[in-house]
Amino acid sequence: MLFFSLIILILFNFIYSLDNGLGKTPQMGWNSWNHFGCSINETIIRSTTDALISTGLAQAGYTYVNIDDCWASSRDLKTNFIIPDPIGFPSGIASLADYVHSRGLLFGLYSDAGYNTCAGRPGSFGYEEIDAHVYAQWKVDYLKYDNCHSFLTNKTIKERYERMRDALNHTGRPIFYSACEWGDMLPALWFRTIANSWRTTGDINDDWLSMLLNIDINDLFADFAAPHGFNDPDMLEIGNGGMTLNEYRTHMSLWSITKAPLLIGCDVRTISKESLEILTNSEVIAVNQDSLGIQGKKKRIDLVYNTEVWAGPLADGSKAVLAFNRANNITQTILVLFTDLGWQLTSQVKVRDLWLHKDLGEFQGNYTAYNIESHGVQMLKMTLITL
Ligand SMILES: *[C@@H]1O[C@H](CO)[C@@H](O)[C@H](O)[C@H]1NC(C)=O
Ligand SMILES: *[C@@H]1O[C@H](CO)[C@@H](O)[C@H](O)[C@H]1NC(C)=O
Ligand SMILES: *[C@@H]1O[C@H](CO)[C@@H](O)[C@H](O)[C@H]1NC(C)=O
Ligand SMILES: *[C@@H]1O[C@H](CO)[C@@H](O)[C@H](O)[C@H]1NC(C)=O
Ligand SMILES: *[C@@H]1O[C@H](CO)[C@@H](O)[C@H](O)[C@H]1NC(C)=O
Repeated sequence: MLFFSLIILILFNFIYSLDNGLGKTPQMGWNSWNHFGCSINETIIRSTTDALISTGLAQAGYTYVNIDDCWASSRDLKTNFIIPDPIGFPSGIASLADYVHSRGLLFGLYSDAGYNTCAGRPGSFGYEEIDAHVYAQWKVDYLKYDNCHSFLTNKTIKERYERMRDALNHTGRPIFYSACEWGDMLPALWFRTIANSWRTTGDINDDWLSMLLNIDINDLFADFAAPHGFNDPDMLEIGNGGMTLNEYRTHMSLWSITKAPLLIGCDVRTISKESLEILTNSEVIAVNQDSLGIQGKKKRIDLVYNTEVWAGPLADGSKAVLAFNRANNITQTILVLFTDLGWQLTSQVKVRDLWLHKDLGEFQGNYTAYNIESHGVQMLKMTLITL
């Protein structure tokens, strides 16, 4: 019975989604929070916009420039219009959005479905129509909508998030709607008609265990992701320094194969060459942006060796595959069985290493990934030749 209900729910999900034309593939861009927190201003956003272009990140697909919490200060007493922080944003949000647009990128803002944002700035609850109207006037392209200070509203998450969805729709401007209720009410099961993406987890931290916790929780909801509505295990930490380069490459691989939003969270004005290489690998990004939009998931877990095989289908009929060594301090060999990918013991399969842009040859029945470092992955594309 539960199984049957789940099938119905999944079918429903694929038929109906938020009808604003956005989010056909997971959103890509930059967000201020993971690196800057509340210490943001218009100078930082402008120079970040420039850096996204000069580093080639924009060219690689990272097109949204999103300001997180702390841009707003108060409301106009007469009109109730939201007022940007006059110290950090003296030129106003409209001129900042114009600047981002003039450089060919898209502009995102943040608000909250409660009385205040998480950092205590004015929230949008009760002001949804006014705020959406102002965002559209400013030519905002994206809204991340948080869930702090909402308990005393006595309104459900559904009602509060639908209010802003409808307000954004009433503006007539397509605005990407990114819901951030931290996965509390299992939004993957019912947010598809409300938002373009929904957080499935609490906030990520820049460390290995936090990254794993978020992607493991996110995996539980894999079947509910599809074009125009994706699971969001939170933003990237690559470049912030709390993990090794090997771990950041794993972070990028996991986010890509699971069709997670790719929102850079470091200071791209001072980004290292190594972090840039991780963020801009074209074949890895292509898995994330594949038009099929089906979330890859864990296909096999080996609890003895602490290794995993993740996989998901791609539009051209091939599979993206991750051979993942979760173990600490030991380099391991990981076996990928083609039967785990929906193929057979006799299947002949062509294998390509996506990080290295290198064809590895043809294999029958299985593929062995050798010498996978602790906390490392091999990310592969497998194409069936004969079943
Ligand atoms: C508003 O919603 C209607 C009905 O779902 C949809 O057709 C339209 O494209 C939406 N407009 C915007 C700007 O999201
Ligand atoms: C923004 O912050 C930077 C670094 O703290 C500072 O140099 C710059 O003057 C600030 N700009 C504004 C508009 O506050
Ligand atoms: C929410 O419910 C509490 C307890 O019933 C009540 O005291 C409070 O006034 C309500 N708040 C709103 C905004 O309705
Ligand atoms: C890995 O091994 C090194 C050197 O033996 C040790 O210092 C470190 O604590 C180990 N790390 C883990 C996660 O076990
Ligand atoms: C893997 O495939 C090879 C032939 O391609 C076969 O000899 C071997 O037994 C297979 N291993 C497993 C574990 O199935």
